[in-house]
Amino acid sequence: MVKKLIETFQNLYGCGREIRTYFAPGRVNLIGEHTDYNGGHVFPCALTLGTYAAVRNREDRVLRFYSMNFESVGIIETSLDNLIPSEAASWTNYPKGVMWTFEKRGYQLNHGLDIAIFGDIPNGSGLSSSASLEVLTGLILKDTFGFDQISMVEIAQIGQYSENNFNGMNCGIMDQFASAMGKKDHAIFLDTNTLNYEYAPIKLEDAKIVITNSKVKHSLVNSAYNQRRNECETALAELQTVVDIKGLGDLTEAEFEAHKDAIKDPVRQKRAKHAVYENQRTIKAVKALRSGDLVLFGQLINASHASLRDDYEVSCEEIDLLVDLAQSIPGVLGSRITGGGFGGCTVSIVKNEAVDTFIEKIGKTYMEKIGHEAEFYVAAVGDGAKVLS
Ligand code: GLA
Repeated sequence: MVKKLIETFQNLYGCGREIRTYFAPGRVNLIGEHTDYNGGHVFPCALTLGTYAAVRNREDRVLRFYSMNFESVGIIETSLDNLIPSEAASWTNYPKGVMWTFEKRGYQLNHGLDIAIFGDIPNGSGLSSSASLEVLTGLILKDTFGFDQISMVEIAQIGQYSENNFNGMNCGIMDQFASAMGKKDHAIFLDTNTLNYEYAPIKLEDAKIVITNSKVKHSLVNSAYNQRRNECETALAELQTVVDIKGLGDLTEAEFEAHKDAIKDPVRQKRAKHAVYENQRTIKAVKALRSGDLVLFGQLINASHASLRDDYEVSCEEIDLLVDLAQSIPGVLGSRITGGGFGGCTVSIVKNEAVDTFIEKIGKTYMEKIGHEAEFYVAAVGDGAKVLS
């Protein structure tokens, strides 16, 4: 992978001066969906899938970008003096946004770069290819310009800030945090209110994490996402008239039930209900996993899906089919949509002996009913972003 990337880099930009290489992973979230912008908990893990970069310093202020995933786009050339979002900039809006944020925070970038990247996260799958690209860029800049004072948590924050303010997607911190801070064979139990986190070993005994890609991404994902976020913010403001809280994640289920009538609109009430219950489910799920109660862990995952489908309404026909099929297979402990929603992937906890049946059965029925294939990955949980050489 890295060898091919370096070869491509040299063909594009010529041989010669030192080339450095970097990697940042994608993520899958086990539970805690749409809680990260509500001051709740999330429980993601970094994958071994991700984005690789080869980088060389330049003496001027020119930036050249190339992605092996978008060969037809070719080299995109710009400059450190032109860090503004544009449609023509295509995928480079993500690295440019991170560079813009660095400069905004006073970290001056005093020379340009030649960059080539390659990613093995399927595009549009909801496994955070864009967050991995942001964290990758943050790490490149930290390493290249010697910003030792910048922690990996700050890199995650910079990625989120750039996505919010440069790319117009009002996401929470989960994806960037998982990509920056992941740990092999562990999931991250993160309190998005305080950014306190703990690593929890993924002890699934005789089961695996299976990711199923629906290979659909419905349009308007970003606008629907931003809309959900606005609904939660309005619901929070209504609740704050009757109870002293900073975020929906501060409430238990019982407290929510006691105060929910402050939320005037029934749709908004459902959204807030999801955020509150999902946060509590996440806390319970981590406890269950830690105590080895995989049955309860799976049940909470199933309940998460029902809530995302019915109350938060971010699922879709294709994903519901995948989840229904998965939940009907013996040996599947739990299955749900993962990520922002409206397509993308499901995550399922599947006993080893059921993995083949899972893939065969779901693959066949999905093809028959939806008309295209689903893709399956048995997840390998890896480390966060790193300098390779
Ligand atoms: C997207 C966002 C995350 C998070 C999830 C939903 O992946 O980038 O911040 O909100 O959706 O849990």
